[in-house]
Amino acid sequence: MVGIHRHARRAPRIASLLLLALATLAAAANAQANGVVERGAYLVKITACNDCHTPFKMGAKGPEPDMAKMLSGHPQNLVMPPAPAAQGPWVWHGGATNTAFAGPWGVSYAPNLTPDPDTGLGNWTEEQFVKALRSGRHMGSGRPILPPMPWPMYSNMNEADLKAVYAYLKSIPAIRNAAPASMPAPPPGS
Ligand code: HEC
Repeated sequence: MVGIHRHARRAPRIASLLLLALATLAAAANAQANGVVERGAYLVKITACNDCHTPFKMGAKGPEPDMAKMLSGHPQNLVMPPAPAAQGPWVWHGGATNTAFAGPWGVSYAPNLTPDPDTGLGNWTEEQFVKALRSGRHMGSGRPILPPMPWPMYSNMNEADLKAVYAYLKSIPAIRNAAPASMPAPPPGS
């Protein structure tokens, strides 16, 4: 009798704990279940973000993104010498890692897109991300984003897709890597 009594009293507590656990699981699964993160992963795969934001290494079939450094931007320890001067129709240059570029726009380094708060997108809001890719301005309101970042193409993505890319970028492993700051060329005539 005593045993049954104790069980009867414990049952509601266990039930509420179970409910809590289920609710937590459901919340975590929600983003997955409605496929937002997967959609973002798919979009990142087909829109070439890894081509410029993941440093290349030499693979069996030639240079390929080093996925151990996925989307972490230009490696901070790879200090680039000054770019060669433009010659004739050869007006721009790219580094072997495909994360550093020089052209009439100045020198641009692909930044870290992982969720690291100090060196990546960790502190960016969804709104800043969407605005940056829509407006071509740093964090949505700063200096113009330099080539070859193809934001004019990405500005055609619908809002749900841009948000999915953001959700995916928030879900990937954070990598601490402070890519160098880009250096826009001085305005012509200055
Ligand atoms: C052809 C190369 C290239 C591709 C492809 C590319 N990026 Fe970039 N991206 C860059 C470079 C270079 C910069 C730095 C530009 C600068 O500093 O002005 C940049 C900057 C950014 C920034 C920072 C913008 C800011 O406000 O400072 C974000 C965010 C970004 N890219 C996201 C993406 C995403 C997401 C994709 C794929 C959908 C992508 N990039 C594909 C080269 C590229």
